[in-house]
Amino acid sequence: MHTPSRKQEHVEVVLTSDVHFRNKSNGLDDVELPYNALPEIDFDEVDTSIVFLGKPLKQPLMVTGMTGGYPDAEHINRTIALACAQTATAFCVGSMRAAIEDPSLESTYSVVKEFSSDIPIIANIGGVQLVEWHTEGSLLKNTQHLCTIINASALAIHLNPLQEMLQPEGQPRFCGVTDAIATIVDELDWPIIVKEVGAGISANVARRLSDVGVEMIDVAGAGGTSWAGVEIMRRSDQNETLDYWDVGIPTAECIKQCKGIVPILIASGGIGSGTHIAHAIALGATLCGAAQPVLRAAISAGTNGIEHLIAQWKLDLKRRMFLSGSKTLADLRGIL
Ligand SMILES: Cc1cc2nc3c(=O)[nH]c(=O)nc-3n(C[C@H](O)[C@H](O)[C@H](O)COP(=O)(O)O)c2cc1C
Repeated sequence: MHTPSRKQEHVEVVLTSDVHFRNKSNGLDDVELPYNALPEIDFDEVDTSIVFLGKPLKQPLMVTGMTGGYPDAEHINRTIALACAQTATAFCVGSMRAAIEDPSLESTYSVVKEFSSDIPIIANIGGVQLVEWHTEGSLLKNTQHLCTIINASALAIHLNPLQEMLQPEGQPRFCGVTDAIATIVDELDWPIIVKEVGAGISANVARRLSDVGVEMIDVAGAGGTSWAGVEIMRRSDQNETLDYWDVGIPTAECIKQCKGIVPILIASGGIGSGTHIAHAIALGATLCGAAQPVLRAAISAGTNGIEHLIAQWKLDLKRRMFLSGSKTLADLRGIL
């Protein structure tokens, strides 16, 4: 199946089936913030803002990569990016491989460029794709092009061995990914974020990425969208592959393992409330990311629906900060 129709099918599967983890949570509900009866701050003073990639965000949140590369994706990307611009939230597009394979699809990504002066807009490509381009000698040229067409603030590289292995048309060829990442870190003029897609990043992997110069990691841990689940739904041998549905390291565990290894640690994977955001930051994350809940809000209620969701998460985060005596995110970070 070509990249565009696969990307469309992924969105359809996520919206029409329950592809959350079944027997594993992200662990963030088990975290408890210390209650502070003498916070010595006024609720109105609590400040949830952060500067990320040189731009101010009103809450420590980015919408992580989802879509692009087929006609309807243009509308989805614009809807989400507009809500992100109106709420000062960072936004990452989905894998941009299709834009290199078929330049006529560029507009499905570049539609978000108009918001790039206000918020960080992040480009996205798979680690496996980097290896192919590295071998062909087109790595720098192609990644520069992807960043340019959306006026990106950074490039996110996704690692997805579980997904590639189960994807009917997947390419589970991960030899050379570290080298390709090392090259891009050295040569590309854009900051690099390395992310998973919902199965998590361990301390060992984070250290190996840090060793080649990566400074930003999105753990994208287990407990939210199961990408094994999405691909199993697309397979004909579902009974033989069901055991892989819940493979992955829970988000809370990833944060504990990766804390302190890179300067910027993004926590995503099953983020579903401002309380989750507060708990992730208290464990040591810099900011959080979310995908599926934002897509669902976009489809059911458009830009207003996303803005409402983000406002609710922000208020909830602010309440948790107040109750733990944290005036700023720096006060909250590592409180546990
Ligand atoms: C419909 C959909 C498409 C996705 N496509 C991509 C992608 O192209 N590139 C990527 O890095 N991650 C992709 N992801 C993974 C998300 O960025 C995220 O890591 C994962 O869904 C876990 O977050 P969640 O539990 O908030 O959904 C996709 C997620 C969804 C829901």
